[in-house]
Amino acid sequence: MRRISKAALIKAACRVRERAVAPYSRFKVGAALLTANGEIVTGANVESASYGLTCCAERVALFKALTEGHKSLVAVAVVARTSGGPSPCGACRQLLAEFAPGAVVWIADTLCPGNVTELTVAELLPAPFLKAGKNSVERDWSKK
Ligand code: THU
Repeated sequence: MRRISKAALIKAACRVRERAVAPYSRFKVGAALLTANGEIVTGANVESASYGLTCCAERVALFKALTEGHKSLVAVAVVARTSGGPSPCGACRQLLAEFAPGAVVWIADTLCPGNVTELTVAELLPAPFLKAGKNSVERDWSKK
C-alpha cells in the first residue's frame, strides 16, 4: 500500500480547491479524504443560486468516497485561503462523525500549506447524533 503523507493530502486538497464552484461567496474550499487502502478522494465546494443547496467541499468528497465504495476513511484534509484554514461547518462535522469517526482532520490555509492544524473528528463533534434510539446525550458524554 502506498503511504500518503499529510503534505500529499493537503496538496491534493489544494489542487481540487481550484475546481470549486463558488461564484457567490468566492470562498473556495478543497477537501481530500484518505481511504484505508491508500486512495485519495477529493472534493470542492459547489454553490447553488438558491444558496441553501450549496454543498461544502468536505461533503462532496465524503459522498464521492462513500458512493465509490470506500468504507474506511482514515484522514481528511481541508484547505481554503483564510488565516489558519477553514473550520468545517456543523453539517459536515455530523457526517464526518457518522462516516469517518476515526479520521484525523488536517486543516490549512492555502497560503501556508505547511502549517497544519490537526484535530480528530471526535474533537470537532464530541456528541454526534448516531442512530435513532441508539444513542443519547447522556451516553455520549459519559464516555469522556
Ligand atoms: N465551505 C466549505 O466548503 N467547507 C467549509 O469547511 C466551510 C465552508 C463553503 C460553503 C460555501 O460554498 C463557502 O464555503 C462559503 O461559506
